[in-house]
Amino acid sequence: MTQTIETVKENIWTEEAYIEWIRPYVQAMGQMMGRIEQLEKVMALSSEEPLHHVKSRIKTRESIAGKLIEKGLSVTADNAEGYLKDIAGIRLVFYFESDLRRMAALLKQNSGYALLKEKDYIECPKESGYRSLHLIFEVAVQRGRQLLLLPVEIQLRTVGMDFWAGMEHRLCYKRGGVRTAHRGRIMEDFAGCARLLAALERKIEKYARDSGADCAAGEGDIAILLSSCYNRSQESAQDKILHPQFAGKIKEGENSYVSGNRQISALRQGRHAE
Ligand code: GTP
Ligand code: MG
Repeated sequence: MTQTIETVKENIWTEEAYIEWIRPYVQAMGQMMGRIEQLEKVMALSSEEPLHHVKSRIKTRESIAGKLIEKGLSVTADNAEGYLKDIAGIRLVFYFESDLRRMAALLKQNSGYALLKEKDYIECPKESGYRSLHLIFEVAVQRGRQLLLLPVEIQLRTVGMDFWAGMEHRLCYKRGGVRTAHRGRIMEDFAGCARLLAALERKIEKYARDSGADCAAGEGDIAILLSSCYNRSQESAQDKILHPQFAGKIKEGENSYVSGNRQISALRQGRHAE
């Protein structure tokens, strides 16, 4: 039988089995969140409120099944454990890249968890323009008598990177996004916007570092940067008017609650929008 998310939902992996199976991932994510809170306190000693916000999510049964099918694998717990490294995911969003780098260093040196994989899309952005630092750590948790080493993916971004990723995900990334003749051009525009945003962020970070006198010297550059961004966004705004399907409903998928500056997702509810 051909695998689809529906057949998987109905026959192969029951909701009850998923709930039992996912528990250690929830535990692993909780442990990592606890560690991040400790490291945040370390950072707060020298940097004022470095984190803009934190989100976390556990992949839903449907999303796990969908990803395994996409990879051409059968939907089994073994395959999910073996091939998917982002079942437990945390996203840390910072004001400045320097704070992001500091947290990454603290995580690597002081979290007590082994780093399984690192992808630095800030140093080497994706062709789409996507920027973020992805770290996957291995967290030890108990399942019955078994000790499991489970991956927890942490995406570290600045507010600018997060803004771009959210918008690009909605319009271009993977399934769903815009389906118009302009799609290719919109995607190119997004890559250009990512470069502009990166330059803008560097400028703003310099403002934070430097004295007020230094800041004044860069204002002209910011104005140029912003005006070119503005011209681009005017074009995109026209696209929206020409193609009303832009306004179509795209799943938001944020089933999480907010506590302080943290957005925390509950078991089976939360997912990153991208
Ligand atoms: P996924 O199957 O999407 O998880 O990709 P992967 O396993 O190859 O990992 P990768 O590190 O490349 O990307 C993981 C996650 O980063 C995605 O699920 C998105 O959240 C985000 N991401 C990666 N590339 C892009 C992109 O081009 N645009 C946006 N908006 N997000 C991206
Ligand atoms: Mg992923």
